[in-house]
Amino acid sequence: MPSLYNGLRTKCKVQASVVTSTESIRDEKDIVKGGSTQKSKHVAWQSVARESWEGELAVDGYIPKWLNGTYLRNGPGKFHVGDYNFRHLFDGYSTLVRLHFENGRLIAGHAQLESEAYKAAKNNNKICYREFSEVPKAENFFEYVGDLAGLFSGASLTDNANTGVIRLGDGRVVCLTETMKGSIQINPTTLETMGKFEYTDKLGGLIRSAHPMVFDTEFITLLPDLIKPGYDVVRMLPGTKERTLIGRAALPAEEHGKGMDMCSVNPKYIGKPYRYAYACGAERPFNFPNTLTKIDLKEKIAKNWYDEGGVPSEPFFVGQPGAEKEDDGVVISLISDGNGDGYALVLDGSTFTEIGRAKVPYGLPYGLHGCWVPTP
Ligand SMILES: [Fe+2]
Repeated sequence: MPSLYNGLRTKCKVQASVVTSTESIRDEKDIVKGGSTQKSKHVAWQSVARESWEGELAVDGYIPKWLNGTYLRNGPGKFHVGDYNFRHLFDGYSTLVRLHFENGRLIAGHAQLESEAYKAAKNNNKICYREFSEVPKAENFFEYVGDLAGLFSGASLTDNANTGVIRLGDGRVVCLTETMKGSIQINPTTLETMGKFEYTDKLGGLIRSAHPMVFDTEFITLLPDLIKPGYDVVRMLPGTKERTLIGRAALPAEEHGKGMDMCSVNPKYIGKPYRYAYACGAERPFNFPNTLTKIDLKEKIAKNWYDEGGVPSEPFFVGQPGAEKEDDGVVISLISDGNGDGYALVLDGSTFTEIGRAKVPYGLPYGLHGCWVPTP
């Protein structure tokens, strides 16, 4: 049953239009396998097999010695509560994956974000908050009324911050989703949940964007206006939790959904003219993104990486220190493999060819957005 949160949520285009039910997930698996009649789910849409894990990975190929820091990725990774399975990708409880690069070595790990919603689900063996597409079952009239009241105050909405993870200019790392209480600070080294990131201002309603722009000097994001079409544009400075209103943006309704998701550029070029964009694409007849693509906007050409059966997550560019060329660096992604496994992937940013691959000892669920935490 769709929840009001579903109706309120702003768009995250690629996934929302594709995976809406178990059946459609199974359909994707068929296409991944080139029309196979196999009906089991692809590992990309299954719960991560373990609650947490950490260890060093053996690398096929190499990791550049200059690549020192940690790539963090957020995404829905637990799709069941007890015997009950979520039906929508976005309902999955946040699983954080960490790839720590150090002088050619790669140490990986993952952990569940300990949101209120996740802890309550574990403790009660049922959904206790309104998730993206589902609502908790009221067991009596009073629970029903309480849930409705909580909807309008925001108390019954989930805090399952499963969409993005950002590193603020002051070094704090925060997981995000689109509900007002879905900002949760984590420790990027241990992946431990540190607690809610509570804004000290009074801006915003029940929801906001989970796709902010983050610079060393500021954080800029959008707060949807639920009454008048448009968004408030707000800014937060490093070291604070206070957002201030800096403008307003409006987009004609017919223009919504025309952008690209799972797209990144060299972070040094955000807000400036850039030539290269990195994104997920689709190798037909597959309709879910199953390739990584580097787009040259000047020459209007693209280079692709593709591994049959694999479902890659958002490519993330990390520049080489001192680089002069925009694409001098590497592109990192995590792959949910068609055989049920998963691996970390490093591509050369310039040639877009594979230079390193490291298998993780468990199948990886599909992930959404990530960030880079440089080693000091
Ligand atoms: Fe997104």
